[in-house]
Parts: sequence; structure tokens; C-alpha cells
Amino acid sequence: MKYAAVFFPLSLAMVSTVAADRFITVVNACSFPIWPAFFTASGGQPEQPPGWEALPNTDLTFSTPDNWNGRVWGRRNCDFSTNPGPNSCLTGGCNGGLVCNITTGTGVPPATLATFDFSGDQDIYTVSVVDGTNLPISITNTCACPFASCPVDLVTQCPPDLAGPFDSDGVPVGCKSACLVDALAGNPGNSSNCCTGSFNSQSTCPTSGVEHYNYFKSSCPKSFVYPFDESSGTAIFQCEKSCMTDQDVEYEVTFCPQANGVTGL
Ligand SMILES: *[C@@H]1O[C@H](CO)[C@@H](O)[C@H](O)[C@H]1NC(C)=O
Ligand SMILES: *[C@@H]1O[C@H](CO)[C@@H](O)[C@H](O)[C@H]1NC(C)=O
Repeated sequence: MKYAAVFFPLSLAMVSTVAADRFITVVNACSFPIWPAFFTASGGQPEQPPGWEALPNTDLTFSTPDNWNGRVWGRRNCDFSTNPGPNSCLTGGCNGGLVCNITTGTGVPPATLATFDFSGDQDIYTVSVVDGTNLPISITNTCACPFASCPVDLVTQCPPDLAGPFDSDGVPVGCKSACLVDALAGNPGNSSNCCTGSFNSQSTCPTSGVEHYNYFKSSCPKSFVYPFDESSGTAIFQCEKSCMTDQDVEYEVTFCPQANGVTGL
């Protein structure tokens, strides 16, 4: 039917009963400007350029291809006037500057990620802090599917060994995961924090071996905290496509959701 729609545009309404359009609305509920970005891992590219400025209390909606698999995150403390690239922002910067490069602009951790995979039998989504966090995020939707979230500010109270980068006043604007600390120290190959090497299975990578697991998971139980966190039952969320047969679906990615009074997080 999708093939036919190319030739008979009037049948588009029928196509949408088979595969409804998906929209992602990105809301900045923070009291400060952020620069949202997204990266397409596989599937088609959205038409929206993957990087923009979001002033406080603004939102932007874009549509995604049916098979989109990608991530949305926020950048903090950006200045693109000099050296546009990953160092233009204190956290979350990407190759490309304001608009992230579609092949290399994955973003520099630590950054909280909203991940989506629409390519399978169900939509799959997470709020991931597996590489650390820089902003609270929630994912809500118009399909009565579960919320994913890390709604709490984990940056301000970040454990000292994970804190940073810092702004010019010495205040942290990011909080690394223990895995990211290992990776930055050049030790990602055999790490109980990254579940690599001798720790590369569910049974050999228990949460007890992941430093600071509870700091993230207790405040953000509906987020994805370490590589085998699906065992928690509240890390990876799914939305049945049957919900989408006769309606468009909107996922809302809200930065600083508590400021927006989103409940049920
Ligand atoms: C994106 O990065 C690739 C690889 O470095 C480069 O060849 C390409 O020109 C970049 N695209 C843009 C739009 O700058
Ligand atoms: C990984 O490190 C552990 C000690 O932490 C060691 O016992 C194990 O042999 C190492 N495994 C690999 C594959 O290097």
C-alpha cells in the first residue's frame, strides 16, 4: 500500500491507517536555553535539521520516518560563534556545530539521551543515562504507553568522582557514568562498569559491580542506567503498534519535566 501511495497520493489516508505518522515534540521546560539535537542511527532522516536553539518554555515538533531509529538529547552552555563543533557546548556538543553532522554528529557524553527505535514490531524507547547525564528528560506519548524518564536533576548533586564538565563558576553541567569515567581513562575493554571483557553478560555484570548504580537508578527508576538494565524491568519501554492503527502518535521529549508539572514520571 505504501508503494501504491507513491502513485496515488489520494490513498495516503489509507496508508496512515496501516502505519500512522509519528511526531516527536521537543519541549524545553528548563529555565535556561538549551540546544536540542538528534542523531539518526538507522532508518530515514527526518526533514527537521538535527540541531536548533530552544529558549525556555518553547517547543518544536518534527515528524520521523516509520523506521526511524535514533536519539534526542540536549546541549548546554553553547556558543557557536567560534570553533563550531563538539566543543561549542559544555555538554552534549556534536560534530557540525549548531546543526549536528548527520553521519558523525552523535554528541559528546555525558548527555542524557532519549532513544527511539520505530523499526521493529513495537516502538522501543528509553531515557538513557548509561553514558552519564546532563539534563532531566521525560518521554511521554499520546498512546497511553508507559512514560520513560529521568526527571530529577542528577547533575547538581553528582558524586565528585563523576562530576563535570564544569561551567566558568565551577558548577557541574554534567555527571558522568562510572563506565564513561572508565572509558575516558582508557579502560573500557574489561570493565565491570561498562559490562565489557570478563563482565560482558547479565550474570557477570550485576548492578552491585557498577559504581554509583544506585545514585542514578534510585532517583531515576524509569531510566536506562547500565548495559544490562533491562533486568530492572523499568529501563526499556515498548509501545504496541496496534495503538497507532488509526491515529498519529506523538512522543513528547521534555527537558526539565518537573518544571512543566508533568505527572506520573
Ligand atoms: C559530515 O562529516 C563528514 C565526515 O567528516 C564530512 O565528510 C561531511 O562534509 C560533513 N557534513 C557536513 C554537512 O558538514
Ligand atoms: C578483567 O579484569 C579482571 C579483574 O578485574 C580479571 O580477573 C580478568 O581476568 C580480566 N579479564 C580480561 C578479559 O582481561
